[in-house]
Amino acid sequence: MCVAVGSDHAGFPLKLEIVKYFNEVGQGYHDFGTYDTVSCDYPDFARAVAEAVAHGEYERGILVCGTGIGMSITANKVPGIRAALCHDVFSAHQSRKHNDANVLCLGARVIGVGLALEIIEAWLETPFSQGERHLRRNAKIAALEGKCK
Ligand code: RB5
Repeated sequence: MCVAVGSDHAGFPLKLEIVKYFNEVGQGYHDFGTYDTVSCDYPDFARAVAEAVAHGEYERGILVCGTGIGMSITANKVPGIRAALCHDVFSAHQSRKHNDANVLCLGARVIGVGLALEIIEAWLETPFSQGERHLRRNAKIAALEGKCK
């Protein structure tokens, strides 16, 4: 699996740690920017990553801003995206198992690197349960986007 990653200036330092970790463990990724700490607009990067995931170019995406909130609000505007803002391992696990989240959002000003990497590990490793009730609920979400699943 190749992961699309993106951040704004506030999320950039944590994203650097994430891609360093990905390089160490051999996790494939593509970095959609930003590439420094110069102030920029998080919707630009959320949109690029979310559209790449929604179009099937990448199976999953990870977005980092100061709080993760702006990234999740933006990514969830893109049809087909189920972005989850997770700052604990349980939520990350559940967002995959129950929600089939395809984008993970993190706040670099909220959690430290160690917890962020544990969250990412759990999120990447946990499969969707495929439970009938979860498929039904995701179909209802997709219906809100005018899409049938
Ligand atoms: C940038 O200052 C900050 O507002 C942004 O990174 C993010 O936290 C927005 O949700």
